[in-house]
Amino acid sequence: MLWDFPEPAPDAPGDEISVPDRTLIRAIPENPMIQSQRSALIVGASRGLGLGLVETFLKRGWRVTATQRTPSPDLARLASDALRIETADIDDDAGVAALHDRLAAQHFDLIFVVAGVATQAHEPLHAVPRAVAAQVYLTNAISPIRFAEAFLDRLAPGGSIALMSSILGSVSLNQDGGWENYRASKAALNTLARSFEIRHRAENVSVLILHPGWVRTEMGGAEADIDVATSVTGLADVIAAQLGRPGAHYLDYRGQILAW
Ligand SMILES: NC(=O)c1ccc[n+]([C@@H]2O[C@H](COP(=O)([O-])OP(=O)(O)OC[C@H]3O[C@@H](n4cnc5c(N)ncnc54)[C@H](OP(=O)(O)O)[C@@H]3O)[C@@H](O)[C@H]2O)c1
Repeated sequence: MLWDFPEPAPDAPGDEISVPDRTLIRAIPENPMIQSQRSALIVGASRGLGLGLVETFLKRGWRVTATQRTPSPDLARLASDALRIETADIDDDAGVAALHDRLAAQHFDLIFVVAGVATQAHEPLHAVPRAVAAQVYLTNAISPIRFAEAFLDRLAPGGSIALMSSILGSVSLNQDGGWENYRASKAALNTLARSFEIRHRAENVSVLILHPGWVRTEMGGAEADIDVATSVTGLADVIAAQLGRPGAHYLDYRGQILAW
């Protein structure tokens, strides 16, 4: 059935890792020939989760290209031969095209669009000016998919496109309301991500739609459940286990499958 995303076949390679709920993640064994140094493009890495992901993948031996909108001192502090820092705004198609040109020689095992905004997220929809509401939708839903489309030719075989969604993007899990416009923007991202995957299904594209948990960042606030390190460690583990898995998979940072 079109909407079923089955677990990996029983004879798929790798060790089973049990995680809570319904998920069964298979760790993909390292192949030194093709996985000696993996590479990631992390988009929206000036601070918060993007910055934490850059740090985590560098520690795990990946080469990382990280993007910022304006110079980020925190990102600059991670400087190493394995890190390339680029500048791009995902809402700027010409800027994204220029980035694509600058990275012409590169292919990435992971292209992860982390960037997102939560402008006036606490206001009910009718209290948010139309232009503000539309901009949240553009940045959180339209721009990530346009970025994925623009960079799909830079995805290495066996790699994944990852998109930073949220559990708030789940329509069926919305029991409490709140964060109305932000929630809708992430639901739109989820829908567009599934359509993106379906459109590219013949190419076996792998799309990971990820919820990082409720995390103590500028967006998540000081009262959030978990710190950045816990979230990005979990996300990196989930990505390592799911890398290249065809289909569209909506998962949280512990590997749990989320309802759409
Ligand atoms: N924190 C949470 O609890 C939580 C929960 C669920 C989902 N998320 C999602 O996780 C992602 C990261 O959130 P965060 O908590 O790390 O938020 P954050 O600390 O506010 O960081 C947001 C990041 O997105 C970048 N960004 C925003 N608009 C951009 C644009 N148009 N082009 C390029 N970069 C842009 C920001 O760059 P600048 O520094 O230039 O502004 C910054 O690097 C977001 O997609 C968010 O929706 C977060």
